[in-house]
Order: sequence, then structure tokens, then C-alpha cells
Amino acid sequence: MIILGIETSCDETAAAVVVDGIQILSSVVSSQIDVHHPYGGVVPELASRKHMEAIVPVVNEALEVSGIDPKQLDAIAVTQGPGLVGALLVGFCFAKSFAFALGIPWVGVNHLEGHINSVFLEENPPPFPFVALLASGGHTSIYHVTSHTGFDLVGQTRDDAAGEAFDKVSKMLGLGYPGGDVIDRLANKGNPKNIAFPRSFLDKSTFDFSFSGLKTAVRRYIQKNMDTYQEQIPDIVAGFQEAVVDVLSFKVVHAAMAKGCEHIAIVGGVAANNRLRQKVRQEAGQKGLTVHIPSMELCGDNAAMIAAMGYHYLIAGTESGLCDDVYSRVKLK
Ligand code: KG4
Ligand code: ZN
Repeated sequence: MIILGIETSCDETAAAVVVDGIQILSSVVSSQIDVHHPYGGVVPELASRKHMEAIVPVVNEALEVSGIDPKQLDAIAVTQGPGLVGALLVGFCFAKSFAFALGIPWVGVNHLEGHINSVFLEENPPPFPFVALLASGGHTSIYHVTSHTGFDLVGQTRDDAAGEAFDKVSKMLGLGYPGGDVIDRLANKGNPKNIAFPRSFLDKSTFDFSFSGLKTAVRRYIQKNMDTYQEQIPDIVAGFQEAVVDVLSFKVVHAAMAKGCEHIAIVGGVAANNRLRQKVRQEAGQKGLTVHIPSMELCGDNAAMIAAMGYHYLIAGTESGLCDDVYSRVKLK
């Protein structure tokens, strides 16, 4: 089944052509980072307008690169939510109209489910059941994944998402938006042991997270060291990153053990973090667990994961209708 995937939930306009939910023929991602960078975060109305400009060229490019004619498409999968409503509507309306014009089925996909299914676009995907840590700009959750469409929530953040913490700390230090990638690179130049920031493990019996205390600790450190902190930025970000990574890796490894799973998946934008990738592999390896992390291109928002997820809905007979709408927030089933 040849599926065109479309993703416009936040600040990336993406389209991809994927066969049978596993083989990527093309994956095009057009980022709006330069547009939002001066504002220190995503401006929803600007995001919608930029999606409007980019959607047709991005879809055309994905089709051209794949060598697939629109008439050869079997279906379209598009992100339905969660995300920015105005941004989602651009991709959703486009997908609805294109599918109608081509006379093919289409399906709205949950963005978070798409991230989890991104591991199936790589070699050696995890067998079911496995435990997945989804860490992105808007979400930080652990799921017990029982099938392509079966997700039980094991734990989630009680305040900020991990990616959000990276973005806020980056903003505090004047490093710009988004913060994950820049902190990842700068942390290599610092020593994570020089400044000790708190790790919030909460109650040991929960797999929930909390990152707002850590964010406040970084803010206090900056306020207390107003005259000197600029020279300490590499140590500050290294210490902050180590605190986030310690908690994420501890919780996901222990969740897998609690659920009796031998396989762990790490997905979402924060899964691109080099220290997290290294630490989870190290800690899981010590417990005899296998870790699956998508390649960098599939960690951030992309449409290949949406096409992969849509495939499993479509083969199960789930399709969307012409009166369906997007949603800004939703839990996984
Ligand atoms: O999944 P994603 O692309 O979009 C959402 O669904 O939110 O995740 C974006 C988030 C941002 O907060 C960004 O700062 C973070 O992922 N991120 C990273 C890295 N690359 C992106 N966080 C830590 N280290 C990275 N290398
Ligand atoms: Zn995402």
C-alpha cells in the first residue's frame, strides 16, 4: 500500500511517501525555525501562514523524489492532532481535498502515535510488547506498547515536557529557539559535574516526570551569578542536560523492567539528544535490555511516521470522513 503522509502540527511542513508502513520512498521536511527564531518560540498564526505557502511545494517534492505519480497513491495519512489548530487545519484540509480529488481513502493520525511508530521505519524494530519513551517539545510520556495501535500510559510529565525545558533554558541563556540541538552541542564543551542541578525522580513508585523545578534551579543559578554566568554557559547546559538525561533514562529503564519488557524505544525530538542516546543504551545494556532509537531525521517531526501510522489504521479498516475536524489535545487510546 503506497501512502502519502502529511504533517503540519507545529513548525514543520512535511510530506512523505511510504510503502506498507515500513519503506520510505521520500521524506521532505521544510522547517520554519528561521521564521520563529526571533520570537523565542512558535508563533501560531505565522506557523499557519507558512504551512499555507509550503504545503503544495513540499507535497510535490515528496512525490517527485519518490517517483510516484499521484494516481499510484493508495491512500493519504495526515496528522489530525494534537498540535496548533491553525497549523493542523492546513495539512488536514489539503489531505481531505487531495484524497477527494483522487478518489482514494484518507485517515487522520494522532501525532504521538506517529512518533511511536517511527521505530518501525528502521531496521530491527522492537517486538511487541515494548516500552516507549516519547519526549518532545509538548509531551514527555512512557507507554507500554502492545501493538501498532495499542498504547497504555505508564507515566507522564506533571508540568513541563523535556523538550520544553531545553527550549526554556536555552531562552534564559540567550541561545535562541529551539534549544535542544544548541544545548546538545554546547554541552560537549562543558563539564556536567561542575554545577549540580536537582533531579526530580518524584516518588520511586511512579513513572511520572517533573522538569519545572530543574528549570527554576537553572534560572536561580543565573540570577545568583549575573556577572559570571556568561562564561559558565557550557557547564550550565551540561549540568542541566545531565539532570534531564539521568531522570529520563532511569525512568524508562525501570518502567521496562516493571512491565517485564526487554525492548525500549526512545522517540520524539528529544530522542535526537546525543547524551540521552548514549546513556539509555548504557543503562539498558547493563540490565540486558535492547534499545531502539530512530535515526536523527525520524526523531523530529516528519511525515514518514504519519504515513507509517496511517497504514495500520487503514489496513484495519479505519478511514476518516469529509466532515472530520482536527483536535488540539488528546490522549492516546
Ligand atoms: O518531536 P518534535 O520535533 O516536535 C514536537 O512534537 O514537539 O520535538 C521538538 C523538541 C524541541 O523542544 C527541541 O528543543 C527538542 O525536541 N530537541 C532536542 C534535540 N533536538 C530537538 N532536545 C534535546 N536534544 C536535542 N538534540
Ligand atoms: Zn512531534
